[in-house]
Amino acid sequence: MPFHHENFEAYGDCFKVQLSSKEIVLFTRSPGLIKHILQKQHRKYEKSPLQTVDLAKYIGHGILTSSGEHWRTHRRMVQPAFHKKKLQNLMGVMREAILLELERIEPGKEQDVFPLMGDLAFQVVAKSLFSSSDIRERMSRLQHITEANQRMLIKEMRQPYLKWWYRLSGKIDKHLKMSAEGKRLLLDIVDERRRSGLEKDDLLDMLLRARYEDGSPMPDGQLLDEVMILFIAGHETTANALSFTLFLLAKNPAIQNHVYEEVSKVNLEDSSADLMQGVMQLQFVKQCLEEALRLYPPAYVIDRVAIEDDTFEDISLPKGTMVLMSIYELHRYSHFWNMPLEFDPSRFKEADKKDSGDYYYPFGAGPRMCVGNNFAMYEMIIAIAEIVKKYSISSTLQNIEINPLISLKPKSVPLLFTER
Ligand code: HEM
Repeated sequence: MPFHHENFEAYGDCFKVQLSSKEIVLFTRSPGLIKHILQKQHRKYEKSPLQTVDLAKYIGHGILTSSGEHWRTHRRMVQPAFHKKKLQNLMGVMREAILLELERIEPGKEQDVFPLMGDLAFQVVAKSLFSSSDIRERMSRLQHITEANQRMLIKEMRQPYLKWWYRLSGKIDKHLKMSAEGKRLLLDIVDERRRSGLEKDDLLDMLLRARYEDGSPMPDGQLLDEVMILFIAGHETTANALSFTLFLLAKNPAIQNHVYEEVSKVNLEDSSADLMQGVMQLQFVKQCLEEALRLYPPAYVIDRVAIEDDTFEDISLPKGTMVLMSIYELHRYSHFWNMPLEFDPSRFKEADKKDSGDYYYPFGAGPRMCVGNNFAMYEMIIAIAEIVKKYSISSTLQNIEINPLISLKPKSVPLLFTER
């Protein structure tokens, strides 16, 4: 991260690093170039092999890790499951999963909330996919597998020169076997659903009902890849964002009080229609989350590779150029944000938002924008509301240490919960 910042300060909003005679990486925090790549000229760019090859070998080729026609076809099939109306049906289940995890808060004792938020976000995705199935044990195994595989992937990315050793020593094989075990476990749950003949209106049902243009359903292999992707894309990012938000609220008592005033007026009953209405009223909670996502965007860099020659203003982007768009740096760029390092949720007041969209990309943009953005916002609003309604939170930690891996994580978030 300091490397990004120092070079942007030294060379401006774009700088290139030549890795070899053929490999060029362009780093950018330019809002114009980011819009150009993600939206205006998105057809000239694809995701990098870091996602479509390295990550895909563990989690398969769902919409996060595929490109081209394969991606387009499946994005069309997955997206309807995330429409607001469909999500409304899931909100009761979401809240139930959240309340269950929050029972693990131990008031009066400093507690690292990061692992707790990890479990919470994982259970919310699990329950939204497989609403009423008895899956707790199988989900803990799946969580263990996905987290172990991510750690392995990070090792491979950080030490590419050791890849041969990881392969030779059987480490990669071991993790590939764990991925296969995860898929078998998911297939059992899917088979149980099919045998039951029950309709649940959860995410799994939506995926089972999705059809290709010729009217056929997704083959099991693809279905399981899409399910796996929802776990991977949906749990860590949300856990990071929730942990950062709680820390920022703990360090800003006046803002936390404002949140408390708002949440104590809203009744979050678990009947889905009321819940959606309640969530819509929690505008200040939403602003706090948006501001936390500005300061600590879990997807802190977004990558693309040019698949044909392109230019933007005076920058040439020959085919094969890898572009790393630093969302973290753009979100903290003093050109666009007044006092960028301050936690100030009022920036996101509906009336003051104006065109901040041009330099605010927590969920990406364009056709590959996060499919779960509303899902994530509803989940996080409910979680923050339920926590602040019950506890006041504080922390003795002065500054949060960040851990920029595949996503931007906090190292630890020790918080003290005091019952109100
Ligand atoms: C705070 C939480 C989240 C953040 C910050 C986040 C951020 C992002 C970003 C930036 C992208 C685009 C990446 C790119 O263009 O290369 C993305 C894609 C994606 N996200 Fe999220 N996400 C979050 C939560 C979720 C949730 C809860 C789900 C599902 C349950 C989800 C599912 C996906 C999927 C499937 C994609 C790939 C979409 C595609 O390429 O078509 N995300 N996310």
